[in-house]
Amino acid sequence: MTHHEVEKYRKPIRILHWVHAGAFVLLFLTGLVLFIPGLGFLAEDSWTRLIHRIGAAIFVIIPIIYLIINPKSVGRGLKLAFTWTGDDMNWLLAAPRYYFLGDEKNMPPQDIMNSGEKMWWFSVIVFGIIFVITGAIMWFSKASAPPALLQWMVFIHDVAFIYTGCFFFLHIYLAVLHPLMTESWKAITGGKISTEYAKSHHGKWYAEISKGKEKAE
Ligand code: HEM
Ligand code: HEM
Repeated sequence: MTHHEVEKYRKPIRILHWVHAGAFVLLFLTGLVLFIPGLGFLAEDSWTRLIHRIGAAIFVIIPIIYLIINPKSVGRGLKLAFTWTGDDMNWLLAAPRYYFLGDEKNMPPQDIMNSGEKMWWFSVIVFGIIFVITGAIMWFSKASAPPALLQWMVFIHDVAFIYTGCFFFLHIYLAVLHPLMTESWKAITGGKISTEYAKSHHGKWYAEISKGKEKAE
């Protein structure tokens, strides 16, 4: 790392991101096959259902391994996801002018994640838990649970699928394709971003790392 760069994501968190993202894509595609009636024939011999369960196991086990190896980082991440201040509200209000018109003047300085990224991270945690609970009931209690309960589980699982599915495409657009997010890809693949980018996109976090208080995720 040169002195013109700072580390945003350390290697373990980058590995966690990509393995988890891979599991999510598997779950999304094999879920889609069950969700869209016209695609039901693809699930007939059940191999998509098997892949869904393998994806689910990876989706659950990988964060647990990370929690065991790196509890402090998980604690920091959870604190970030659940701490919302006036700055976040102001960011969300100013975001449309920023993303559509490139107008930065009302954007408050941001932490290591901006408020939109935080909203995705928050959603991944909350809906991840909803997926696991509803999915586990469908998986392990299909024969014993009352049919009405199973129907509710399918319904809630589907709502989570629609919400996270839409946010997933927004995540890819904002993180990879948006012209103002020039160093996002660099951050999640190599870990580092330029000091200039850190100052302009994550001013609050940059001020703290400059004082030596904060570290990379
Ligand atoms: C993480 C833990 C998860 C578990 C344990 C789980 C488990 C399950 C199970 C057991 C089923 C029923 C499949 C069958 O009938 O054989 C199912 C259906 C489904 N899953 Fe998941 N799943 C999980 C995560 C996800 C995720 C992340 C997505 C999408 C982003 C997803 C999307 C779906 C969809 C769309 C269905 C079809 C529901 C319907 O019939 O309308 N699942 N899941
Ligand atoms: C498979 C396609 C995906 C791509 C190309 C992708 C790309 C990225 C990139 C470039 C970043 C860095 C953003 C930045 O720091 O400026 C990022 C961060 C992140 N990604 Fe993904 N990602 C993908 C899937 C996922 C999935 C499926 C999840 C959740 C299950 C996820 C969760 C996150 C989180 C929580 C962050 C940190 C907060 C944020 O920047 O939004 N990603 N991703």
